[in-house]
Amino acid sequence: MDKIHLILRGVLTIAISSHILYAKASSLTKAEQLVASKKKSDMTYKQMMQRMGESYKMIQTGVINQNKELVRLGASLIENHPAPKEKPWSIVKQKDTTAFKQTLLAYDKLLHQSAENIENNLKSEKSDWTSINKKVFELSNHCISCHAVWKNNLK
Ligand code: HEC
Repeated sequence: MDKIHLILRGVLTIAISSHILYAKASSLTKAEQLVASKKKSDMTYKQMMQRMGESYKMIQTGVINQNKELVRLGASLIENHPAPKEKPWSIVKQKDTTAFKQTLLAYDKLLHQSAENIENNLKSEKSDWTSINKKVFELSNHCISCHAVWKNNLK
């Protein structure tokens, strides 16, 4: 009985650890694939973020001036942002590389979802400036929460 127990535990441990290794490896390649899927640019990561900031300001100006075209343009600049010239994870400490890769994957989805929500809201018949502003607020929450963890936690 004990022997069987031990064997089962061994098998289980191997299964769990290979699953963890597999999950880790696949999130790494996914992050690389994500970056490879974007247009390359000659911007540093910081300059790419400055572009994000300008795009976000464009959205805000559009909301205040009731100019849908400006909002649309800012959202599409965020949605189609290029990849920086260096690997994004080269800006974090070696020990944080995996965590930052996972962050990139998670926030890429959130930013795209938010930009899409803004674009869909602009198209909708029910669109009004208060509801557009709510979607813009949701977008800015994603920016802020990544900044809270990473902006001052680089190499
Ligand atoms: C995946 C995490 C992440 C997300 C999401 C993110 N940022 Fe950043 N952002 C950073 C990091 C890291 C820095 C610091 C870069 C540096 O100093 O090299 C930064 C810096 C900035 C800066 C300052 C640039 C400078 O000159 O110092 C601005 C502006 C900015 N981000 C705007 C935005 C906006 C707007 C959004 C949302 C649309 C956003 N960011 C989303 C990680 C993120």
